[in-house]
Amino acid sequence: MIKFFKAESIIDFETIEVLAKTIWQVHYTPIIGEDQVAYMLKKYQSAEAIQMQIESGYIYFIIKSANEALGYLAIKPEQNSLFLSKLYVLKRFRGKGFGKQAIAFVEAEALKMGLLKIRLTVNKYNSQSIKAYKSIGFITTKKLLIDIGSGFVMDDYEMLKRLA
Ligand SMILES: CC(C)(COP(=O)(O)OP(=O)(O)OC[C@H]1O[C@@H](n2cnc3c(N)ncnc32)[C@H](O)[C@@H]1OP(=O)(O)O)[C@@H](O)C(=O)NCCC(=O)NCCS
Repeated sequence: MIKFFKAESIIDFETIEVLAKTIWQVHYTPIIGEDQVAYMLKKYQSAEAIQMQIESGYIYFIIKSANEALGYLAIKPEQNSLFLSKLYVLKRFRGKGFGKQAIAFVEAEALKMGLLKIRLTVNKYNSQSIKAYKSIGFITTKKLLIDIGSGFVMDDYEMLKRLA
């Protein structure tokens, strides 16, 4: 059984920073290259950056099983949808249904907020995760090219899941 703990303290933000480094360096280096991974980790997933995102409306949760942190997620309420900004599970815990349980948790949070759609963005070449999202009920809605500075872009699809 997994549980979701809202990240509130600097220790929580540091736990997420470590999870992000571990997951992103392995998963994203073949997709976007080492330099962009280092740039994005510093810009978006340092403890300080996470704290600033939380102050601007993002909500982070650490995913734990028997007190072991196995991943994390971040959501942000928007006008008509809940934006799933991050969902990362450590490699050795993937394919065990935890991603699906995390989406079910996010769906319940959306409904509590009165939001009937979940929106996310995923790198176009992150094909394993796109497959996972499709099997969880997301559909691709558009392509997005986002300039993130220093010559880097996020070359993404937007995906959407409507809640009944
Ligand atoms: C995407 C991710 C969060 C999914 O979590 P997970 O715990 O592995 O997913 P689950 O075990 O709950 O699987 C969910 C569904 O996706 C399918 N799936 C999972 N991994 C898959 C893969 N590599 N290829 C195809 N389908 C896959 C599962 O079969 C399952 O579908 P089913 O119920 O129809 O069998 C996780 O794989 C991950 O962290 N990936 C790397 C980081 C990443 O890219 N995150 C997303 C950023 S946008």
